[in-house]
Amino acid sequence: MAQPITLAPSILSADFCRLGADIAAVSSAEWLHVDVMDGRFVPNLTIGVPVVESIRRTTDMFLDVHLMIEKPVDMAAAFAKAGADQLTVHLEADTPRGIRAALDVMSEHDAKKGVALRPITKAEAILPYLPELDVVVVMTVEPGFGGQKFMDAQLDTVRAVRRYIDRINPACRLEVDGGIAVDTIAAAYAAGADTFVAGSAVFGKPDRAAALAALRGACHE
Ligand code: DX5
Ligand code: ZN
Repeated sequence: MAQPITLAPSILSADFCRLGADIAAVSSAEWLHVDVMDGRFVPNLTIGVPVVESIRRTTDMFLDVHLMIEKPVDMAAAFAKAGADQLTVHLEADTPRGIRAALDVMSEHDAKKGVALRPITKAEAILPYLPELDVVVVMTVEPGFGGQKFMDAQLDTVRAVRRYIDRINPACRLEVDGGIAVDTIAAAYAAGADTFVAGSAVFGKPDRAAALAALRGACHE
């Protein structure tokens, strides 16, 4: 029997004027992925704390908040208070001391803790933090935009992270983010990912529930 997977549709590809309805349409997914961008860490600007508060009021889904912002320690408490169930910070977004401080803020606010890796970052960068993490996110595109092509070369990083997780913290999830679709999800799963962000492959389709079911099916084929 294959391992259960977690799907995390990314609202970056939703229609922000119909956000409540778009979120309701993906309620068969395990998590809801929320991409926060500051226009500095990545060349795009998306949503902030008030929107996360509104999302929290509209759904009981697990809110997986991906912080693509510089010095995330400065905003971690605000996003946790807004209702994020889990926060993910990029290892490239601050010094090791700043990353440590951000993880401590998450603990103080009972948020689950994640780190994310840009494609340039090696798997071993997670090692100082891995024993306490709930999720490691391997970016399979350059962060900043939805709808980009899956980077096959990142499968090596997924495999390396999977080996570290199995050895050091088997309960930690391994999430892949970027370019996940029916033609790429199986390779990421085979490389060791168990959690899959999908933006355009879900919200770009008219029937979102069918799109989620197709991803699940493609993963286990
Ligand atoms: C990109 C974001 C992703 C994005 C994925 O920086 O972190 O979560 O929404 O979009 P797709 O699935 O379209 O590549
Ligand atoms: Zn993301």
